[in-house]
Amino acid sequence: MTQTYQRPVTAPGALRLHLNENTAGCSPRVLEALRALSQHDVALYPDYTHVYETTARYLDVPVSSVLLTNGLDEGIFLAAVLALTRRPADAAPESIVVLPAFDMYAISSQACGCRVVTVPPGEDFGFPLEAVLAAVTPRTRVVFFASPNNPTGVRVRNDEIRAVARVLPPEAVVFVDEAYHDFCGDTMLPELGSLPNVVVGRTFAKAQGLAALRAGAIVAAPETLDAFRPLIPPYSLNVAAAAALEAALADREYVAWYVAQVHESRQRLYAFCRRRGFPFWESGANFVLARVGPHAAGLAGALQDQGIYIRDKSGDPHCPGCIRVTTGTVEATEAAIAAMEAYLCGVR
Ligand SMILES: Cc1ncc(COP(=O)(O)O)c(C=O)c1O
Repeated sequence: MTQTYQRPVTAPGALRLHLNENTAGCSPRVLEALRALSQHDVALYPDYTHVYETTARYLDVPVSSVLLTNGLDEGIFLAAVLALTRRPADAAPESIVVLPAFDMYAISSQACGCRVVTVPPGEDFGFPLEAVLAAVTPRTRVVFFASPNNPTGVRVRNDEIRAVARVLPPEAVVFVDEAYHDFCGDTMLPELGSLPNVVVGRTFAKAQGLAALRAGAIVAAPETLDAFRPLIPPYSLNVAAAAALEAALADREYVAWYVAQVHESRQRLYAFCRRRGFPFWESGANFVLARVGPHAAGLAGALQDQGIYIRDKSGDPHCPGCIRVTTGTVEATEAAIAAMEAYLCGVR
């Protein structure tokens, strides 16, 4: 069945802990940069020279290794389009998706006519290396997974990624989605020079708080990126997003402060799970997945009634009885924990 992304609806003014957004908002320097845009800046097609240089410096890669995108969603879509352009002569291209996964891998793959080959997770949501290797065929054109993964928060080791890269047909790429990199530090970026079939995806929606402006990047060896360049419209990143991105990347202190909030929030959510006896997964991201069993729908519904949105993930593959809670500022996390405690006291 062809999937479509269901945009979650949220009441205005609610505490949103269901989309892994930045609960503190962007750096104030981003708003200054947006206010500084002139009439002419808005009227002209953007010049990306400076934002490319800033981003490449920030990522510590050459400019020729960066392609800025309209959110990471667009980077994922481009990988699926690349698979389509490289389809085998006699069959549909195959896209391997490691479960449970961010929805857009399957949605973009299907939209581009790929056959989606899903691989179940390993024990405790570990990366199922042997099963991924077994799923590779001469028709494989892209392997999608995130590290840390969404919705589990579980990280994938670089040696596991290398092992996948080694066995792919020459037309295929490994798309390593590092949307949540800032919250754990793991990255494949330093290895891209020796792994031409690895493409790293980054978003500036999470730690930098630019979700509404839509700013992401795909990063790969220059010759690998050359295959992606004709697939993207020339002005995909709008001028406001470009200005915001430069300002956000310049304010490293703000991001460091926010990342520290996320680390503390994760610990507080773990402590809540331990108190209540709920299994949870150590997360490298800005959210925690916990197995609350029969309470999943009740918790999500009760919190929503109070204007706090968390995600009931029971419907996701391999996630029965699970909720995912964004761990942003400590204040927001504490509000969610207090509301969950109140609900659980009421039902027991
Ligand atoms: C794993 C993963 N990749 C990509 C994205 C999308 O990023 P963007 O908002 O930049 O399109 C998300 C958003 O939640 C995500 O969780």
